Amino acid sequence: MKPDLQFLLGYAAPYRRTLLLGTLIMLAESAMALAVPWLGGRLAQGFLDQAATGTLLLALLALLGAQALLKLANNLILGRSAARILADLRIRVYDHIQALPIGFHHQRKQGETLALLTHDVDTLSGFISGTLLSIVPLLITVAGALVFMFNIDPWLSLIAALLIPLFYLLLKIIGRRLRPLASESQQAYARMVGMAEENIGMLPAIKTFTREPVESARFRNQIGEIVSLNDKQLRIYAALGPGIQFLAAAGIVLVLWLAGERINVGTLGAGQLVTFLLYTTLLTRPVSALSDVYGQTQSARGAVERLMQVLTEPPEPLFHPGRELHAVRGEIEFRGIRFAYPGRPAALDEINLHIRAGETVALTGHNGAGKSTLAHLLMRLYEPDAGSVLIDGIDIREVSLQSLRRHIGVVPQHVLLFNGTVRDNIAYGRDNPAQADIEAAAHAARAHEFILKLPQGYDTLIGDRGVRLSGGQQQRLALARALLKDPPILILDEATAMFDPEGEREFLQECADTLRHRTVLLITHRPASLALADRVIGVRDGRINEGEA
Ligand SMILES: Nc1ncnc2c1ncn2[C@@H]1O[C@H](COP(=O)(O)OP(=O)(O)O)[C@@H](O)[C@H]1O
Ligand SMILES: [Mg+2]
Repeated sequence: MKPDLQFLLGYAAPYRRTLLLGTLIMLAESAMALAVPWLGGRLAQGFLDQAATGTLLLALLALLGAQALLKLANNLILGRSAARILADLRIRVYDHIQALPIGFHHQRKQGETLALLTHDVDTLSGFISGTLLSIVPLLITVAGALVFMFNIDPWLSLIAALLIPLFYLLLKIIGRRLRPLASESQQAYARMVGMAEENIGMLPAIKTFTREPVESARFRNQIGEIVSLNDKQLRIYAALGPGIQFLAAAGIVLVLWLAGERINVGTLGAGQLVTFLLYTTLLTRPVSALSDVYGQTQSARGAVERLMQVLTEPPEPLFHPGRELHAVRGEIEFRGIRFAYPGRPAALDEINLHIRAGETVALTGHNGAGKSTLAHLLMRLYEPDAGSVLIDGIDIREVSLQSLRRHIGVVPQHVLLFNGTVRDNIAYGRDNPAQADIEAAAHAARAHEFILKLPQGYDTLIGDRGVRLSGGQQQRLALARALLKDPPILILDEATAMFDPEGEREFLQECADTLRHRTVLLITHRPASLALADRVIGVRDGRINEGEA
């Protein structure tokens, strides 16, 4: 089986019962549709023979009514499962994206990942619940109609049947460009979403650097690309439907002509002719529907390719049944570490560093020396190319990521706050912490005072990424968040860089106690922070110089 088909079926599998039921209903509906021409022929013959047709008319009505009911049932059933498949697929894609290592995301554009969750998931679930299922009844209708026609007139039906591969060939020829176009237009769409998202985040820069005209033009270009790709697709789609329809109609005309000959010769009755013609029209419906199916299949295949590319990426082994880290003392060892970011020269080279439990170690060094990278490796956000990281003598690769990260608190260099209240932002790392604990953490981070001055105190909404706070205030919240987590190992990555000197001094005094009880990695350039450290370690070009300030 093709991998993308297998992939699709995997996602539809939980719904196989509903989908099967839907397919069965569609089959019943097709069967009924097949009975209509037969009844129609009988009716026509009845009219010609001036026989009683009341029962036949009633039967036709009943048949059409039943068909409508089946359609109703199917719309409900498939509509429901479509919504569920979409929801389920979206959840699974989200979970997978979330589980992928940070390194994966650093190599991609956020907008493109977002497009997977929106555009591609929509396309795919629409395909599973709409198109994929309608193929079977379509084929049944075609096959059934042909069989009935064959009974009436084998030669005529053979001609009609021969037209079908012709249709398919035509579809392939016209539709050949559809798939790459669908793929290109999805990518253009993803770029557009990505650009909008990035620019809305960059608005202050756009305004202060007066880049509005440039960015507007860039966005307009992107939209222009989408429109022109749409036009190209439209030309094909526009030709596909009517083209196929015309061919089908031409086929009917051909059959009509041949049938006329047969009526003259007397080998075909009028009733049979009506039935036969009704079957031919029944044939044209699925044939033109197949052209839609074809187009949608091409789009869906593009979506499947892109989704598969991401879903086959190995996630972080978050719940890997490794050892659990319990009661961490906080001894850290970097042993023979070598690490390079993808496509970059080594960021860390031959790092050997031993930090005793409870020690406060300051890491200094110029920008880009590799300090933050050391913190990433300790959290196992990245894996070293060589060497190992040990906590309490245990290689961190042997323990589950969850338990590793639970024991480490980080105030990252780039503070990450979300649009919520001050309280929720501080509480982020814990489930339902007590207000007293939140306030204690805020006190320790020198945040409590400014929080009380905010309009709603701890309930103040801080805006996207905390924009309604000053840089230093954001940093204090991040610090409070890490302190509330109360981890045995704490990494402060230039965490006081934006503090005012007084605030920093207060924090360091206040924290001396809190810090003493744990292992602390202070990444800092600030003399005041350096003074707090038991040991200062210089990082230079990915190497370590002990004792160097
Ligand atoms: N995600 C990344 N991908 C590629 N290179 C990176 C990435 N993050 C940092 N780098 C590079 O790695 C080097 C070390 O960075 P980092 O550890 O952040 O330095 P710092 O000591 O200032 O914290 C720098 O040269 C930086 O450009
Ligand atoms: Mg850094």
